[in-house]
Amino acid sequence: MRQAIAETDARRLLGGGPVVLVSTSFRGNTNVMPAVFVTPLSFDPPLIGLAVHPSRHTHDMIRASEAFALNIPTRELLHHCMYLGSVSGRDMNKLELTKLPVFRARLVDAPLLEGCVGHIECSVEDAHTMGDHTLFIGKVIAAQVETDAFDGTWRLEDAGLKPLHYLGLNHFAMLEERLEARVPQAEEEASTEEQVGAGAAEAGREARERREREAEEAERAHREGGKEGG
Ligand SMILES: Cc1cc2nc3c(=O)[nH]c(=O)nc-3n(C[C@H](O)[C@H](O)[C@H](O)COP(=O)(O)O)c2cc1C
Repeated sequence: MRQAIAETDARRLLGGGPVVLVSTSFRGNTNVMPAVFVTPLSFDPPLIGLAVHPSRHTHDMIRASEAFALNIPTRELLHHCMYLGSVSGRDMNKLELTKLPVFRARLVDAPLLEGCVGHIECSVEDAHTMGDHTLFIGKVIAAQVETDAFDGTWRLEDAGLKPLHYLGLNHFAMLEERLEARVPQAEEEASTEEQVGAGAAEAGREARERREREAEEAERAHREGGKEGG
């Protein structure tokens, strides 16, 4: 049995994406709000799309500062995510009020939030009106992640280090475990192609190339981390 749902609720079927806390700063004022309308858009340059409703204070802060940071919270900040999304920085300083500890970002002015396992610093490249939201195109200029939480992809081993996902309403979730899909080898690619068509083999090749790229990135990050640690 299936039930029809409202067109405006269709987005909930895509629910489960990681929630981010968008932090901003302009002329000494800071703000933070949760967001889920966030998506990677390009590898090179690394671009991320963030859709923000013009009524949000964050909207004005991003327009003015032309930068923002995405902080990826864990369950420790579950209730904060809801609270920070129910009041506006226009009426109060949410960071001062909640006393959430912050630290300096590497390249943008926006403060980064403790209790988050990943931080992405973006400068605004472009902005487009999309329906009733503004899609800010952020170029990633710095990013950092908790070492025990990530080894090229989220490790999902320690519940305290898992990113928080948003289902809609006041429902959040965490991913349970990381599954590893078998990647077709070269000779399998040929037979896969015969059996199920070129599309699947292409997908397999792309997955392998992506894994190789990710492994290289993880190795580079590891190397750079080692350097920083002396
Ligand atoms: C989990 C969650 C996700 C949200 N995602 C978005 C979003 O992607 N874009 C948006 O404009 N508002 C989103 N909101 C609403 C804003 O966070 C909310 O209106 C907030 O109070 C705005 O704060 P500000 O006025 O200080 O910027 C979300 C709210 C919650 C609770």
